[in-house]
Amino acid sequence: MSFIEYNKKISDDMYIMRINGEFKGDKGQFYMIKPVDKVMIIGRPISIHNIDNEGIEFMYKVLGKGSKSLSELKTGEQIDLKGPYGNGYPDFKDKKIALIGGGTGVAPLYLLSKRLYKDNKIDIHLGFRKEELYFSKYEKYANELKFHIGNDITNELNLDEYDIVLTCGPEIMQEKIYEICKDKNIIHYASLEKHMACGIGACLVCTCDTKQGNKRVCKDGPVFKGEDVFFIE
Ligand SMILES: Cc1cc2nc3c(=O)[nH]c(=O)nc-3n(C[C@H](O)[C@H](O)[C@H](O)COP(=O)(O)OP(=O)(O)OC[C@H]3O[C@@H](n4cnc5c(N)ncnc54)[C@H](O)[C@@H]3O)c2cc1C
Ligand code: FES
Repeated sequence: MSFIEYNKKISDDMYIMRINGEFKGDKGQFYMIKPVDKVMIIGRPISIHNIDNEGIEFMYKVLGKGSKSLSELKTGEQIDLKGPYGNGYPDFKDKKIALIGGGTGVAPLYLLSKRLYKDNKIDIHLGFRKEELYFSKYEKYANELKFHIGNDITNELNLDEYDIVLTCGPEIMQEKIYEICKDKNIIHYASLEKHMACGIGACLVCTCDTKQGNKRVCKDGPVFKGEDVFFIE
């Protein structure tokens, strides 16, 4: 059984939920999460934002019915968690890496930087519509943290100095970044989002077309090499 330590609002429509207990999971993986005893039958896929010996954290945006019902849960209430699922970002050593996130794609970058920071140089670029104070905590595991407010983040990036670029967020943003990386011979990994039902590779709801044929985002991804993906706009 898993119990909520806190579930607090961090901006207009973003929440952070911490759940007590011992959990497994790595950078870029996700859990299917849903309230217990509610009408919601299928959990919603949410990336691991942070994990330590005493608990796990998820950062999520209220969009529809599922995320709204998550936002209504209170400290001490039980929650249904299944995971960790998916293939996350790979490990790297002695590289200069840019982590780039837009929208809810900023959520997994915290654990990602925490896990890569020791062995690599990490710059984090976060794109938001308006200033978001909560995210200054990302500085802890970054050589540099840059906020890109209001504009198209891809117009402001100079990726020349990086060996590797890791992205999460809107596909149109990830596609533009892939195109830049391709021109400059920079390795790029993207994290894809699809509607999900089972989360474990059984229902095929999350199938996407790649250069290696159909893949399940929940099981084969959500992280893929940028060069393998047919991005959709
Ligand atoms: C691997 C993975 C990791 C994710 N990690 C996070 C995270 O860390 N934080 C977070 O806030 N969100 C994350 N998401 C997205 C999150 O799962 C959806 O926002 C959530 O399922 C919406 O459920 P809902 O019932 O609130 O909205 P719904 O009522 O199902 O949908 C509301 C609106 O959002 C759109 N929508 C719903 N799900 C998706 C999706 N997966 N992709 C694109 N549009 C969608 C619908 O088309 C609709 O317009 C992730 C998704 C995936 C696949
Ligand atoms: S969600 Fe069922 S196969 Fe991916």
